[in-house]
Amino acid sequence: MPTRLDPIVEFREDHRKVRDGLLDLAAAAEAGDLVKARDILGTINNLVGPHFRYEEEALYPALKEFLGDYVDSLIREHDGAIDTAKTAANLLAKPSVSPEEGKAAANAARALLVHVSNCDGLNILAERFSKDKLDDLAEHYAGSRAAGVPLLQWADTIRKGRS
Ligand SMILES: [Fe+2]
Repeated sequence: MPTRLDPIVEFREDHRKVRDGLLDLAAAAEAGDLVKARDILGTINNLVGPHFRYEEEALYPALKEFLGDYVDSLIREHDGAIDTAKTAANLLAKPSVSPEEGKAAANAARALLVHVSNCDGLNILAERFSKDKLDDLAEHYAGSRAAGVPLLQWADTIRKGRS
């Protein structure tokens, strides 16, 4: 049997990858390198889908133990992050992008960076979970990754169907 993933380690590792991707995305969008920017956004979309899904389906409900109803505001933050990702995707989907549009896509990437840094702070709380809860989170994390639904697809299908 494969070793169970460590949800605290993997959570931070995801954030590192997304951080680096968003920084590269902002640079590519600003430089007008559409091919590269689209490629990076695609990678981020694939990585963040399972991550957000894990957060909303497993981590946030578990965090109610410490945060109570504040968890609802984390979901609303995701609404904003998804909208921002859609804005970037729509801008970059155009056949050509003006310098202003490139700048707008770069700004969207930077706005998402703030979500990454805020989200990583939740790990300090996750460290207080019981072993059983962490095992349960690990299972959900692995399940979400195995399903592999990209962010924008998840947001418009599974996530919508739930609310
Ligand atoms: Fe996160």
